[in-house]
Amino acid sequence: MIDMEERIMIENGTRLDGRRFDEVRPIKIEVGVLRNAVGSAYVEWGKNKVIAAAFGPREVHPRHQQSPIKAIVRCNYNMAAFSVPDRKRPGPDRRSSEISKVISDALTGQVFVERFPRTAVDVFVEVLEASAGTRCVALTASSLALADAGIPMRGLLVGCAAGKINGEVVLDLGKEEDNYGEADLPVGIEPMTGEISLMQMDGHFTREEFDKALGLITEASKGIHEMMIEALKRRYSEV
Ligand code: CDP
Repeated sequence: MIDMEERIMIENGTRLDGRRFDEVRPIKIEVGVLRNAVGSAYVEWGKNKVIAAAFGPREVHPRHQQSPIKAIVRCNYNMAAFSVPDRKRPGPDRRSSEISKVISDALTGQVFVERFPRTAVDVFVEVLEASAGTRCVALTASSLALADAGIPMRGLLVGCAAGKINGEVVLDLGKEEDNYGEADLPVGIEPMTGEISLMQMDGHFTREEFDKALGLITEASKGIHEMMIEALKRRYSEV
């Protein structure tokens, strides 16, 4: 959504990378990839490569952040300097603070935080390669890392987006589609209940387009959820 220049991104009903409108980019999931984290997950999603590490419930530092009635869930999203074609300046910035916040808020709704008062559950996300939709990949990986860490949760959150390109509502925008498209709607959803824990929007949808986008996300999230469960099962059948 950074450039308003009109680009042809759909030809003969097919997108630039050959996908159908309702097709997500290829996804690969591996759980338990880090020896020194309590729980971890690695997700490749299109050209995105994201790793998440989970810790806790553990003592809260700084102490003033602790809550006497519940655990706090914190997320730290970071993009590696080499993750994008133009080197990303290392360290936190407004964008990474925003993404960290929306992910921790979304995860807080899934973790049984009332069971662990005065503690913190921490998730660290490292984006190794970025190519549109990293917050969705990061949320999916974070959710898996928490599950791998054995943190009691209501369910697994799937991050998935839909957007609009050349006037068509399509699932999971790729990099060019993200740059030249008309709208993007990243969502965090628990597919078993349909509960939505994250929703942001960039650009414009009509009401009908919005409903269609959400419908595509809801449908796709079920398949991604199955892949997540499979990855967790693989991890625990190997031990
Ligand atoms: O990654 P996501 O779509 O959740 O967030 P965004 O802020 O909409 O960023 C879209 C894409 O822009 C990212 O996935 C990266 O591919 C790219 N980007 C970049 O090239 N350099 C940055 N400093 C930040 C993002």
